[in-house]
Amino acid sequence: MPRLLACVLFLAGVASLLPTARAVTALAPGEVWRDTDGRPINAHGGGILFHEGVYYWYGEFKEGRTYLPKVNKAWGGTRVLAGGVSVYSSRDLVTWKNEGLALPSVPENPDHDLAPENVIERPKVIYNARTKKFVLWFHQDSPNYQAARSGVAVSDTPVGPFKYVGSFRPNAGVRPLNATDADLAAAPGNFLARDLEGGQMARDMTLFVDDDGTAYQFYASESNQTMHVSQLSEDYLRPAGKYARIFVGRSIEAPAVFKRNGRYYLIGSGCTGWDPNPAHAAVADSIFGPWREIGNPCRGEGAEITFGAQSTFVLPVAGRPDLFLAMFDRWNKWNLEDSRYVWLPIEFDAAQNPIIRWQPRWSFPE
Ligand code: DGJ
Repeated sequence: MPRLLACVLFLAGVASLLPTARAVTALAPGEVWRDTDGRPINAHGGGILFHEGVYYWYGEFKEGRTYLPKVNKAWGGTRVLAGGVSVYSSRDLVTWKNEGLALPSVPENPDHDLAPENVIERPKVIYNARTKKFVLWFHQDSPNYQAARSGVAVSDTPVGPFKYVGSFRPNAGVRPLNATDADLAAAPGNFLARDLEGGQMARDMTLFVDDDGTAYQFYASESNQTMHVSQLSEDYLRPAGKYARIFVGRSIEAPAVFKRNGRYYLIGSGCTGWDPNPAHAAVADSIFGPWREIGNPCRGEGAEITFGAQSTFVLPVAGRPDLFLAMFDRWNKWNLEDSRYVWLPIEFDAAQNPIIRWQPRWSFPE
């Protein structure tokens, strides 16, 4: 046998004895998901943007010790210092490369919106084809969650770094499309009326871009009691001044919105801090409503508590006309950094209502 061939065969034989790094092809909800460097993926409460053949997953970068902040008397929940917004890229939704921080927090300035003691949650990025900018919105808040603002940042590339634009309470001085005079009458506990001039409270949020390129922000408002759907300006950088109240008094947060066959769908949760609760689904023919609640879409083991998780985003999978991926966070309130991801495909029943079935392990269909 020629020496070169013998050498090649020998090396192949040795290689076959070594442990091989097997490509991940299946998703195991709730297990530790690792990036291509082998590190746990750190992108919580996030969402995905598909751009030029690549998926970008943006999320809250939560690193370090989970603590109970002293200032949180009004709220009482645990916190981790806000690290900013992380971004990962993938072509198959399974193999994720860490692209670093799209928007880092600002540890050097405690007065900055992006100071780690503040809250940077539920980041979502959309692409504006008109301005060719990537626009990031997130829930910006003070350590006790009482500021309830929306933060905006902008970038020329999907991985950033994004330039921070600022934060505000949306829709200052604007009356909701569907509010009556009675809704706006000042009264104790009427947050809509209280905040009419200064801007509405905005906590958990998502963004949705409609087929015509018009973008909308959905945010939990009025002290989390009522959600608002708010049209964005053409550059996607601020509210357009047109919004509606939906799920009035229903205390729904963690909105994830998608469109299928001309109808809008929303999946959300109740408001129980980091603890899981039953998911809510709703459907509408018009984005400003009326939205009709259709109950908890989850099925199977753990469905009554959304498989121990909370909604964050629904991704229409590119090139798969009827494949929608429901993304949830399984929060670990005593170790927030170790919160996990629960992603499951959405089915639709005969009434075209979404159904999300628990599966401990699944793969995207070929
Ligand atoms: C529930 C929200 O959905 C989360 O984003 C986070 O703000 C927690 N509350 C904090 O308790």
